[in-house]
Amino acid sequence: DASDIEKGTYPHYMLKEMDEQPTVIRKIIQAYEQGEDVTVDADILDALAEADRLYIIAAGTSYHAGLIGKQYFEKIAGIPVEVHISSEFGYNMPLLSKKPLFIFISQSGETADSRQVLVKIKELGYKSLTVTNVQGSTLSREADYTLLLHAGPEIAVASTKAYVAQIAVLAVAAYAVAKQTGVALDFDLKQELAIVANGIQTIIDSKDKMEQIAEDYLKIARNAFFIGRNMDFCVSLEGALKLKEISYIQAEGFAGGELKHGTIALIEEGTPVFALATQKDVALNIRGNVKEVVARGANACIIAMEGMEEEGDCLVLPPVHELLTPLVSVVPLQLISYYAALHRRCDVDKPRNLAKSVTVE
Ligand code: G6P
Repeated sequence: DASDIEKGTYPHYMLKEMDEQPTVIRKIIQAYEQGEDVTVDADILDALAEADRLYIIAAGTSYHAGLIGKQYFEKIAGIPVEVHISSEFGYNMPLLSKKPLFIFISQSGETADSRQVLVKIKELGYKSLTVTNVQGSTLSREADYTLLLHAGPEIAVASTKAYVAQIAVLAVAAYAVAKQTGVALDFDLKQELAIVANGIQTIIDSKDKMEQIAEDYLKIARNAFFIGRNMDFCVSLEGALKLKEISYIQAEGFAGGELKHGTIALIEEGTPVFALATQKDVALNIRGNVKEVVARGANACIIAMEGMEEEGDCLVLPPVHELLTPLVSVVPLQLISYYAALHRRCDVDKPRNLAKSVTVE
């Protein structure tokens, strides 16, 4: 469909692609639905169920999606997972389990760092699954199995809709293998994903707030920190990457509890700190971390899940299943980065020094 690769009335592909995220979640539900459930093909289910350990291999934003995927396979399906950066794994392979399954996550399916790992593990005789947005891409053709993202072409260099699609598809796979292996599940993923799609829409409809936050916190910032615990930590890494990529503000994602072991030394008067608070069991701890940085002069913006918000928080997220919070919490971070880049007159869709897909090692 030609409209997929045209900007239409949008000033930037990135804005269009962020706006498409609710539709992408709904497309994934449709693509993977079978009756009342969402699931993946039987041969993929068997490969996942037979593995004693999953090795997720990816780069950039896809690596960050892999960190969430690990939580899903471990917490929903009970399968141990390691997540590795492709360029490190290839030349420094860890000891492997007896029956590994390799999962390559790649929007483009063309990333050379990931492909060199695929070539190596095939030589060793191991099976592989590629999670990609591009049917017929190199990583898809060369792996044993493929799961498609159904996100439509992603043109902006900074990945947005592919990240949420990757997380949603990994959730479907983890949920399906859990069902297959008889794990008792207390939620209906198809229904929860539909709630997520609506939640993302709510955030997108209030973009003005994110524009204001970008203006208030980042207009003159030299650096910024993103903190969170548990899954919020994984999303913090992606929030920091988005901001770096398109606004060139130096940014770091940090585990809340780790701040005191070094990074807190960088907090000065006015340093922006974005804190995610979506995980109930660490809600008090992350609030504690915010107090620590505020006491040292930080300008803190707390993004909290509805029901966990407190007075003075800068943004409240629509409620979704606790495991699916990354799908909604990342969206304000994407939008804040986008507006920060605009305010600084950066080339949002084609940031300096970066390529959409890197086909050299
Ligand atoms: C490049 C892009 C990133 C992307 C990474 C991995 O560096 O600029 O946005 O996350 O490659 O790409 P892939 O297509 O493998 O997901």
